[in-house]
Amino acid sequence: AFTVLLLIYLISSSSFSTQKKGKEPPGPRPLPLLGNLLQLDLKKPYNTLLELSKKYGSVFTVYLGTKKVVVLSGYKTVKEALVDYDDVFGDRNQPQIMRELSQGHGVVWSNGDSWKEMRRFALTNLRDFGMGKRACEDKIIEECQYLIEVFKKFQGEAFDTTQPVNCAVSNIICSIVYGSRFEYNDPEFTSLVDGTSRMIRLGGSPSIQIFDMFPSLFKWTADRSEIHKISSANKKQNRAIFSHLKETLTPQMCRGFVDAFLVRKQNLEESGITNSHFHDDNLLMTVMNLFAAGTETTSTTLRWALLLMAKYPKIQDEVQEELSRVIGDRQVQVADRKNLPFTDAVIHETQRLSSIIPTALPHKTTRDITFQGHFIKKGTTVFPLLTSVLHDPNKWERPHSFYPAHFLDKEKKFVKRDAFIPFSAGRRVCLGESLARMELFLFFTTLLQHFRFTPAPGVSEDELDLTSAVGFTLSPLPHKLRAISRM
Ligand code: HEM
Repeated sequence: AFTVLLLIYLISSSSFSTQKKGKEPPGPRPLPLLGNLLQLDLKKPYNTLLELSKKYGSVFTVYLGTKKVVVLSGYKTVKEALVDYDDVFGDRNQPQIMRELSQGHGVVWSNGDSWKEMRRFALTNLRDFGMGKRACEDKIIEECQYLIEVFKKFQGEAFDTTQPVNCAVSNIICSIVYGSRFEYNDPEFTSLVDGTSRMIRLGGSPSIQIFDMFPSLFKWTADRSEIHKISSANKKQNRAIFSHLKETLTPQMCRGFVDAFLVRKQNLEESGITNSHFHDDNLLMTVMNLFAAGTETTSTTLRWALLLMAKYPKIQDEVQEELSRVIGDRQVQVADRKNLPFTDAVIHETQRLSSIIPTALPHKTTRDITFQGHFIKKGTTVFPLLTSVLHDPNKWERPHSFYPAHFLDKEKKFVKRDAFIPFSAGRRVCLGESLARMELFLFFTTLLQHFRFTPAPGVSEDELDLTSAVGFTLSPLPHKLRAISRM
């Protein structure tokens, strides 16, 4: 048996090295079938990739099972690929679970003309129903008030911020997509919110990564069944909401994204166009994409910000001092951002340090390319290691510390930094960046005006753990905070 294994190994590793001829990116030697799996920390794959980049440089190859992945690391390389060659590095690779769920529809996991149309339409509508209008600022401000009421109910007792923050952030997407918000205790709403959150957690689990590498061997994994179950329930709920919206639709007065989509679909059908991308599958998937991409990300970042404030009370002092001096008791507006440089720096530094989507979403090359001297074949999966840019020691004075001064100049004015790319860059840059930035600013400042955040009784600031949990996004480990009223 040993001889047979050795033979298989020699044959397949020689085929790998034949592929490496020419100038394919270097990388650790893969094992047959397993590739570099045994070297990978499946709980934190990005850590292994960061380690490998120290050895193999800023463009290297790893094999996840038999799937070949080119990893891009460091500011210069990631920016060059995503921005200068965005047409080549701008397609999406679909992990197996996403292929099953989305069937190539929607905006996050699609490519080609369908992706282009859905992305354009979603952006226009986010502008119309979301970030472009004063109305969106008002919606977020209104939601802040609901969130404050929930925090107040704990009367300074320690609590887990996850559920209320998730609800508040989800309600912004609900307003944009459906045209209305929900009460936090509405069971229809909480099942949407909790389901989406759970799917994102499971989506990054080790068993789902293994399933992606060996789909036919691991299709019975419990995490995959649970994801499918939640997704079906989610789809059913959305279809019910859509049919209610359809029944009450007034084409001249669209309430949100769904209405606008239905009107466009109807107009196209009436003009005899039957093969457009405005069909029910794209509607459903795009709505589910906006939920998945737009809620967990923003709420996780907000929870990191509150945790960091509790851990670093002196920084919290400075934020609250700036808010009291510049704003006082009145409601903060987006227009105040330019007068709150320290607070703005704290929000940016939270996003930089927490680096919640460490490998971006997987990209795919649209054609053969020789990039930085390495040959990369058309259709190769590419991981732009965003975390290597956000923590690049050549770009940040203290890459692994919470140091808001990264975003301040000598006069304590806010400075933009080119290596700040938590939303990625290029053709696939986050579609909700402006909305997310508006939400983070308004929720964070309003909460800090109203509350002092501290650890639970008996827990010291030093004991607050900044290790991140396993999942599709890097979120804080379960913890409780006290929100002590300041107003
Ligand atoms: C994609 C980050 C909030 C919608 C992405 C990507 C990242 C990201 C890193 C992948 C880009 C790539 O593949 O290179 C974030 C962060 C957020 C946030 C850090 C909050 C702090 C939002 C919000 C929305 C949204 C609020 C929606 C309203 C999307 C969509 C995509 C995406 C639709 C896929 C774009 C495409 O494939 O064309 N986001 N995002 N995101 N994001 Fe966000």
